[in-house]
Amino acid sequence: GTIQELAHSYQESLEAARSELQHNVQKASLGWMDSPTDQKMIKRIQAVVRATASFDTLLVLGIGGSDLGARTILEALPTKKHVVFAGDNTDPDELEEVLSSLNWKKTVVNIVSKSGDTIEPMSAFFIARERLQKAVGKKFAQQIVATTDALRGTLRTLAGSEGYHTLVVPGNVGGRFSVLTDVGLFPAAWAGIDVKKLLAGARAQQQVFERRSVVDQLPAHYAMIHAEHLLKYGRSLFVLMPYSNKLHAFSRWYRQLIAESLGKAQTRRGTQIEFGPTPIAALGANDQHSQIQLYMEGPRDKVHTFIEIEKKKKKSLRLPSLAKEYGPMYDLSKRPLQDVIHAERAATAEALASSGRPNGTLFLPKLDAYHLGELFQFFMLATAYLGELFDINAFDQPGVEEGKRRFWDKLPKGNK
Ligand code: PA5
Repeated sequence: GTIQELAHSYQESLEAARSELQHNVQKASLGWMDSPTDQKMIKRIQAVVRATASFDTLLVLGIGGSDLGARTILEALPTKKHVVFAGDNTDPDELEEVLSSLNWKKTVVNIVSKSGDTIEPMSAFFIARERLQKAVGKKFAQQIVATTDALRGTLRTLAGSEGYHTLVVPGNVGGRFSVLTDVGLFPAAWAGIDVKKLLAGARAQQQVFERRSVVDQLPAHYAMIHAEHLLKYGRSLFVLMPYSNKLHAFSRWYRQLIAESLGKAQTRRGTQIEFGPTPIAALGANDQHSQIQLYMEGPRDKVHTFIEIEKKKKKSLRLPSLAKEYGPMYDLSKRPLQDVIHAERAATAEALASSGRPNGTLFLPKLDAYHLGELFQFFMLATAYLGELFDINAFDQPGVEEGKRRFWDKLPKGNK
């Protein structure tokens, strides 16, 4: 059937989903739907950007939701200053490489941890803080920005006692939904990205969610299509494949959002289900030479979403004039490379569709702060809808906590 027919069959459940989500916003338990209109947040971020503007480099330490959002923004959009990421692993070689490349006199450290007690970024932070202190002495605290819970956690305590600049992860925003809060926006603003435009794009999507009929909303469509494929046909692999290197990190951000939000042992009523889609972060056109064979001929267990950036840059890269003797390559003569990537996406989509493999494409008019903000809010809303359609709590992560809890017993004893 058509999307409209499917939307009508889902209308009642989508409306119930929206009411439930709006009810939770009113109860102040879903802060990420409010953050696009939070003016105080922008002022708070700008004040810290100004206070640290004389430095050259920003080192951001965070993991999961406290890392992927900022990384995604900084990879997607042009920046004016240098931002380096670490603390998203405890790999000593990798951390040493990053830390030893820094000039501490010119570096600001942004440690991001909502709980303030996460092993990976806090380990990296303690090492970075020691090096910073050695290099600049007593005034080291002026070069640290702690983004953390307003009241709780080791990091909040440390920030207070040592006098760091501080920013807030709102208590009602989970890590993977925090990209458009201080977590993702401070590194973005520090690097010169227009964060107000990011929020304006998110606001536009949020208004679609609030005002438009559920049968006409793209995030609701995304959710119902994926719910239908999973629940009716068992297609539990959700592929996101942007045709843009600038959005490669975006597909990793998406992967975390879907996995942590929708992979759950129980329904909200406590029925055991051990349920969840598996998100796949792919990259077009690159993965046409890696994944597409499987997508075309392997199990029919996937739903594919492509992202295409429509607008050509004014000075878009072009192929040179080619001789007729070059055979099929002659058709590439003088073409903008953008035409090639668009045709690759279209050909892949058509080939998959012709063999009955469901796929859709999100067309982004251009890759700028506004449209990126829209894209973030789009996927957060779609994920929230999916949680409702599956009757699971998309906003907790008990499975992450379990491994964290067991960690302390596994550290070798007497090793100080
Ligand atoms: O989405 C989540 O909740 C997680 O991925 C967290 O962001 C991650 O575990 C890091 O947690 P914290 O910000 O408390 O250091």
